[in-house]
Amino acid sequence: MSLTNTHQIDIQNAENSKINDVDFNNLKFGTIFTDHMFMCDYVDGAWQQPKIVPYQPMTIEPSARVFHYGQAVFEGMKAYKDEDDKVWLFRPDLNFERINKSAARLAMPEFPKNYFFNGLETLLNLDKDWIKKGLDRSLYVRPFVIATEPAISASPASAYRFIIICSPAMAYYTEPVRVLFAEKYSRSANGGVGFAKAAGNYAAQFYPTNIAQSQGYQQIIWTDASTHQFLEEAGTMNIFFRVKDKLITAPTSDRILDGVTRKSVIQLANDMGITCEVRPVSVKEIKDAAFDGDLKEIFGAGTAAVISRICAFEHGGDVFELPEPADSYGKKFKATLLDIQHNRREDNHGWRHPVK
Ligand code: COI
Repeated sequence: MSLTNTHQIDIQNAENSKINDVDFNNLKFGTIFTDHMFMCDYVDGAWQQPKIVPYQPMTIEPSARVFHYGQAVFEGMKAYKDEDDKVWLFRPDLNFERINKSAARLAMPEFPKNYFFNGLETLLNLDKDWIKKGLDRSLYVRPFVIATEPAISASPASAYRFIIICSPAMAYYTEPVRVLFAEKYSRSANGGVGFAKAAGNYAAQFYPTNIAQSQGYQQIIWTDASTHQFLEEAGTMNIFFRVKDKLITAPTSDRILDGVTRKSVIQLANDMGITCEVRPVSVKEIKDAAFDGDLKEIFGAGTAAVISRICAFEHGGDVFELPEPADSYGKKFKATLLDIQHNRREDNHGWRHPVK
């Protein structure tokens, strides 16, 4: 892959900030965007001069392959502000690696590391007033890549755009989540793109999730496509089950996203002396545990969702309500993660990344 060799970014500052129009106490996830965005085009086999411009609509030809074949991948990250106004990212190296892994699976070019970090940090510095202090606050950062070549033959594009936009965030789920265990539809299959943050993975969930929502469930916990007997992930988050005092979560595979929060929870469980088994989790064992009173909690782990409690699940017509246990593991992990992310606790694993 050939790259342009400059690290410089052309910056066009927004003339007026929109920040004073925003009610930071009343944010609907992913609906408000900061003043600037980062962009870098790939043409003629090389990433071109990166730029930061005011957040704005883009002109893209209707024939761009992204619109026809969904050649698009993305990431989800967050930036946090500590009490001294320092800005931090959480394990951004993992997001960088994953966007390129996702891109490779969709036959898209790798994005250079120095462009990624330089673009991200320059953008966060420009828009740092949008990052508010407080454990319930962050700036959600959305890097993504789309195929922009205007051509509709079904083959990989020769032109792409890498973009980063940012959105001030509070909670993704404002209430505990009720879920359905999937019995008919599937999110991903062996050899597919389930492990990647491919845009189409999310669109494919909308229809079955709409059906679930009409039945009073906010999310689906996807099961393996061939038997529907093993619990995999929730699409917006990886899933952990606590049976008695043991945690269980599915191993990553080509069907399951290798979540940054998931990885961090497994490490924190280890640090706290909580047994965490990473192995296939059957629907039957979770239902049996629920019937026996041994299923203490289920929670999701994701960047946007952080740790979100699952308060009920349904499978095969059986509905189980899960009251929050007094010694909730999910609560402990959430508090620890948020403290690390906001620089309020020692970071024993070097997960915090300062934005300079
Ligand atoms: C994230 O948690 O960052 C995700 O990408 C999930 C998305 C549905 C908000």
